[in-house]
Amino acid sequence: MPDTATLHDEIRTLARERDAIILAHNYQRGEVQDVADFTGDSLGLSRQASETSAQTIVFAGVHFMAETAKILSPDKTVLLPELGAGCPMADMMTADELATWREAHPGIPVVTYVNSSADVKALSDVCVTSANAVAVVRSLGADRILFGPDRNLGSWVARALPEVEVLLWEGFCPTHERVTPEQIAEARKRHPDAEVMAHPECRPDVVDLADFVLSTSQMLRRAADSPADEFIVVTEEGLLHALAKAAPGKRFVNLEPRMICRNMKVTTLEKVRDVLRDGTNEIVVPEDVRERALTAVQRMVAID
Ligand code: 13P
Ligand code: SF4
Repeated sequence: MPDTATLHDEIRTLARERDAIILAHNYQRGEVQDVADFTGDSLGLSRQASETSAQTIVFAGVHFMAETAKILSPDKTVLLPELGAGCPMADMMTADELATWREAHPGIPVVTYVNSSADVKALSDVCVTSANAVAVVRSLGADRILFGPDRNLGSWVARALPEVEVLLWEGFCPTHERVTPEQIAEARKRHPDAEVMAHPECRPDVVDLADFVLSTSQMLRRAADSPADEFIVVTEEGLLHALAKAAPGKRFVNLEPRMICRNMKVTTLEKVRDVLRDGTNEIVVPEDVRERALTAVQRMVAID
């Protein structure tokens, strides 16, 4: 089996030949993050996908991220190194379910987390990411919204904007949902001087115990800017690789047991190389679905 440096060289050569850009989410394996042109959170990577001049986008992430890139950049070829990389939360709200929910609440805006299928986005008024959910909902000026699929991100929005009534879909991220207040208390006991950064996909009783509630790229910026030297990082453990690069010399701890999203780990350097070499695993979004999803996604990338 070739070593990491050899695979990196091979991937960079193939990317040049195919006029491809490699985007990697902050939860990807470290060696995959290291070969990417850009790493980031869902919002940052969506913006990269919409702005790139490259002909091909290789998305080292999960399926909904590659679909979002295709919605924004229909003329590009979007390749997902492992087609089985899904998001269990996105699967918790189908288009049929959303259509029924919407019909039961006529006239109420539908706000959808980017962790959702293209079919669900096509039935949505606006999409959000963890980095801008509060700002997007505030910009709507609505007094009631439907929010899905993540009940925890929706609760976070509701608490930040008490003037908005947020009706929640009951979806969640299995990786973040597992975290308990007791784990946070235990980590704080072991690291009393550490700052606690939690992702808003965590339960409200966990978010309540955090010093900062942030998207993954916001965590990278906070770690670099904070006066603290040590951080308890309450999100998927892949972020620790990016944190070590963003704030060298600082210390980062994940919870015990470590938070791992299996879907984020199935992408390997070999799979990135294979799709670049063979042009396989192309993401296709039917044009009528793409057109209906586009406005909601464009509104998402426009707001900080
Ligand atoms: P962000 O990197 O946008 O915070 O997303 C977290 C996540 O769970 C993506 O699946
Ligand atoms: Fe989905 Fe959670 Fe994995 Fe993100 S970390 S891809 S929300 S299961």
